[in-house]
Amino acid sequence: MVRPHLSWLVTIVVMMTVVSSIRGECASVHPNCGCRSNNIYCHDLGDISQVPTFKHSNTVYGLLEIGGNTTLSTVQTGAFKGLKVKELSLSSIGITAIQSGAFSDLNDTLESLSLNSNKLETMPEDVFDGLSKLKKLILAKNKLEIVIPAWFNQLPALEHLFLSWNQFETIPDKTFNKLQNLRRLELSSNQLKTVSAAWFSQLTALETLYFDNNEFELIPDDTFKTLNQLVNLYLHGNKLKKLSKALFSHTPTLQVLHIGGNHLRTIPDDTFNDLHQLNYLSLYYNFLTTVKTAWFRQLTNLETLDLSLNRFETIPEGAFEGLNKLKTLRLNHYRLKTLNYALVQDKPHLKSLTLYGNPLECDCRLAWVRTMADILTGFTALCASPPSVKGTAVVAYDISTCAATTTETGISSL
Ligand SMILES: *[C@@H]1O[C@H](CO)[C@@H](O)[C@H](O)[C@H]1NC(C)=O
Ligand SMILES: *[C@@H]1O[C@H](CO)[C@@H](O)[C@H](O)[C@H]1NC(C)=O
Repeated sequence: MVRPHLSWLVTIVVMMTVVSSIRGECASVHPNCGCRSNNIYCHDLGDISQVPTFKHSNTVYGLLEIGGNTTLSTVQTGAFKGLKVKELSLSSIGITAIQSGAFSDLNDTLESLSLNSNKLETMPEDVFDGLSKLKKLILAKNKLEIVIPAWFNQLPALEHLFLSWNQFETIPDKTFNKLQNLRRLELSSNQLKTVSAAWFSQLTALETLYFDNNEFELIPDDTFKTLNQLVNLYLHGNKLKKLSKALFSHTPTLQVLHIGGNHLRTIPDDTFNDLHQLNYLSLYYNFLTTVKTAWFRQLTNLETLDLSLNRFETIPEGAFEGLNKLKTLRLNHYRLKTLNYALVQDKPHLKSLTLYGNPLECDCRLAWVRTMADILTGFTALCASPPSVKGTAVVAYDISTCAATTTETGISSL
């Protein structure tokens, strides 16, 4: 008689134990927080004034993410007490304030902290103190106006620092001095106007620097002097009127260089001479009126050259001499009327040549283009003249009238 009851009871007790042990594995208390694999997700918490409390746990969680439809005004002191988390994601949740010691309980485990797309105007000096394992810190897309050097004083392991899309007008000289393991620094889309060599003087491990979309008119010669591991440098979208001749003479490891969208009218002859490893160079959208034969001569590893949207009418013979590895050449939206075959003749690796948006004169000087129809990529290059072929594709016009003209035009290979 008693037996069935007992077995029911046992079943219920067992089920409750199982349920509570599953729950017990998750350190979250808030009903909208839950654990999945080794992560804690807190989504749709609505408007909350501070981070909800968590239960003490010895589990090291991979990720704690607070997101979804959540507006969190303050990350309070001791917000993550009792937790061990490697990655903390607090992006796009309207945070306006972070208190001292907000993250200090995560000092033993935290490797990545995302605070991007919030409404931070400032933060306490000691906000990241003690985060000795932090490798990645994302502060992009906030409203920060002043960089406080003390933020970065105690982050010896930091490798990636994202400060783009804030409102910095300058950066105090020694701000990054303690970040000797920093490999990537993003400062895009701020309002920086001048730079001092002291900004980067200790960043000897830096490989990637985003410096684009600021307001630099001049970047002094010695700015990148100590960055002898630099591989990627983004300087596009500034107001550079000239390049200092020695700007890149200490960065021979550069592989990618973007200088598009500036106000360059010319470039000193030897500017790129030390960049033997350069693979990608963009000078897109400047005010360049000539290409000098000395500019690219030493770029023996260059694979992509983008000179689009400048003001050249012609490109002199020999301008691309030395570019033996060239694969992609972009010459769009110039004022080019013709292009000398000799410029691209000895480029065995050339796979893509784009010429669209030029007022091309489709006469026998351009007849060679037909022989390269397979590498003419992107939008179609059209003839602007003579009137009889205006608007037709440059690879399609009738070249029969050019037959047997000079061999240097390449027609003989047809
Ligand atoms: C977000 O949460 C607020 C309440 O905190 C609610 O009024 C709003 O409708 C929610 N928005 C969405 C898209 O769910
Ligand atoms: C984290 O902070 C505690 C308390 O201040 C300290 O004892 C511990 O050594 C710190 N851990 C690391 C890795 O710095």
